[in-house]
Amino acid sequence: NVPVVTVDGPSGVGKGTISQLLAKRLGWHFLDSGALYRLTALAARRHGVALDDEEALSGLAGSLDVRFEAGEHGGTALVFLENRDVTDDIRKEECGSDASVVAALLPVREALLQRQRAFRRSPGLVADGRDMGTAVFPDAPAKIFLTASPEVRAERRYNQLKQKGLDVNLPSLLREIAERDERDSNRSASPLRPAEDAIVIDTSELGVQDVFEQVMSAIAE
Ligand code: CDP
Repeated sequence: NVPVVTVDGPSGVGKGTISQLLAKRLGWHFLDSGALYRLTALAARRHGVALDDEEALSGLAGSLDVRFEAGEHGGTALVFLENRDVTDDIRKEECGSDASVVAALLPVREALLQRQRAFRRSPGLVADGRDMGTAVFPDAPAKIFLTASPEVRAERRYNQLKQKGLDVNLPSLLREIAERDERDSNRSASPLRPAEDAIVIDTSELGVQDVFEQVMSAIAE
């Protein structure tokens, strides 16, 4: 059975950074499950599908034509949708917000299940998301759940976007994060919550290196 480390938590908590570092250190594969929801939302916009059309959306999610390509792009992989480079498009706040709307639909989540599980290949997988430990890989031997206050998360997101040269505003990011939390935690399909056997780490006062070390020692146990 191929090992999996799940890294779940709310918007802007730094899961992406930590789980990519972890995958690199372990030499394991990496699943950015949020990217699949973002891609579904982007595909919906491109094909003129309404964000509440469950049937059409689950069809899109189930047949997404995506390709992840390892490449130097701020350290992350390039993402192609229908052979177009959408690496930057899927990172936009608007796309993240659309993603959290389509992610609330159970048929969309079900349509993405097999695709996510297919990332579990030898020698191992680090899976980043909201429900990696609760729904997608409930048998994972190591589960991490990261938290931080909304203010800290908004600030992290602010710095991240600013570094990319994007035009951002802190109060509106904080509002976005609060909305995203509300939708992710209160939906009936796989609401955001730590798995019973997850190790919860509050990262509000911690730097990337500290979090990484805590995660490394947690999974070594
Ligand atoms: O961290 P952030 O919310 O900005 O982005 P993300 O991790 O790329 O996820 C985008 C949206 O997809 C989230 O707000 C969730 O609503 C949804 N999502 C989900 O429902 N389940 C996952 N496993 C991953 C993301």
